[in-house]
Amino acid sequence: MPYTAIVGLQWGDEGKGKVIDFLAKDYDAVVRFQGGANAGHSVYADGKFFAFHLIPSGMLWEDVVGIMGPGMVIDPDAFLRELGELSEMVGPLEGRLFLDPRAHIVMPYHKLEDALFEAAADRPIGTTRRGIGPTNRDRYGRLGIRVGDTLRPAYLKEHMRRAYDFNRRVVEAYGGEMPSYEELYSWLVDFGERIRPYVRDTVEMLDELERKGARILLEGAQGTYLDINFGTYPYVTSSHPISGGATVGGGIAPWKIDRVVGVFKAYTTRVGEGPFPTEEHGEVGERLREIGGEYGATTGRPRRCGWLDIPMVAYATLINGITDLFATKMDVLDELGIYRAAVGYDLGGRRLRYPSPYSADWYEVKPIYEDYPSGDALLEAVERAAGVDVVFVSVGKDRDAVIERQKRR
Ligand code: IMP
Repeated sequence: MPYTAIVGLQWGDEGKGKVIDFLAKDYDAVVRFQGGANAGHSVYADGKFFAFHLIPSGMLWEDVVGIMGPGMVIDPDAFLRELGELSEMVGPLEGRLFLDPRAHIVMPYHKLEDALFEAAADRPIGTTRRGIGPTNRDRYGRLGIRVGDTLRPAYLKEHMRRAYDFNRRVVEAYGGEMPSYEELYSWLVDFGERIRPYVRDTVEMLDELERKGARILLEGAQGTYLDINFGTYPYVTSSHPISGGATVGGGIAPWKIDRVVGVFKAYTTRVGEGPFPTEEHGEVGERLREIGGEYGATTGRPRRCGWLDIPMVAYATLINGITDLFATKMDVLDELGIYRAAVGYDLGGRRLRYPSPYSADWYEVKPIYEDYPSGDALLEAVERAAGVDVVFVSVGKDRDAVIERQKRR
């Protein structure tokens, strides 16, 4: 089967950008199926660095086709900026990058609302303020504006009315200032003109690729515990970063995905608010952040750091149907010189093997830790708990700093 999905097993920032770039050399296309410019996938290749936000990582390889699926949310300004920057580095992307007309547009008012909600909230989510929540709210509220609408100005002008009226009320209720209808309309039409060469029915495109025998990667952004259903709700993002998200967000039949690579970091990090049972507030957290360079690729925010949480990884393996595990940043633990991980939790005297599906329990559980003599021993503990082999281990930033391990099961 042609499809391999790559998903994060923690709270994002597992190093998926590097993993996708590493695997992309054996693939013909990469599909992003959810999320938007909240993502930041960093790739270091041949001394070059690129931080992907919207465009599929893997496009540093010059023959790889990039597809942005219907499940995504597109910030027009961010997209044009990234398109410009990447084209400068790898040449023109026309004919190599395709955007589905069904992807939703992040409107300026969505970003404004994201910021206003966060500022007004008692307990903010700690979002990236990229408008992700409000845009997906409008998608499900049937108030969204889609990429294809920008190429049909007469339809757009009419269709925007409901979205505009609703969002104006929201923005004004929170004390913000709503841009004018005309301003938004011409900005969208202008965007449509600029992206015309890239817009294409990606379902048809994928069918063509499949018929040619292409191998295709599905790139999940964020991570399993930021999934709107399976994450640490409500401290999650508004999409489905799990492997199932590729089916509804990319238009890919489930049976065509026969390999699911689960990426996890040798320790745990999280950006934004929400529970984090193995978080280290003291010196260890500080050292992990410094050695690992744990600052957000999108927002520059320092990431919260702590020990590897094996129950989280094992449970995410179930949700995603992981076939291969990919461990990243092992070199950071090597430098720290401590190989510690949670192997279960204590919840009021009861031992839990997996994270609890009750939000409240996440604040109550006490991790049960184990120390290992080496990185290999720690990875074996992950394999035992997850029932899946760790097939790759990344030990540095560069493309080539990856150790392949024998698959045994
Ligand atoms: P939003 O996606 O901007 O709405 O943010 C919701 C939560 O997801 C916040 O805790 C963010 O920090 C987190 N988040 C969103 N995108 C990423 C990502 O790409 N990596 C890590 N955390 C993310």
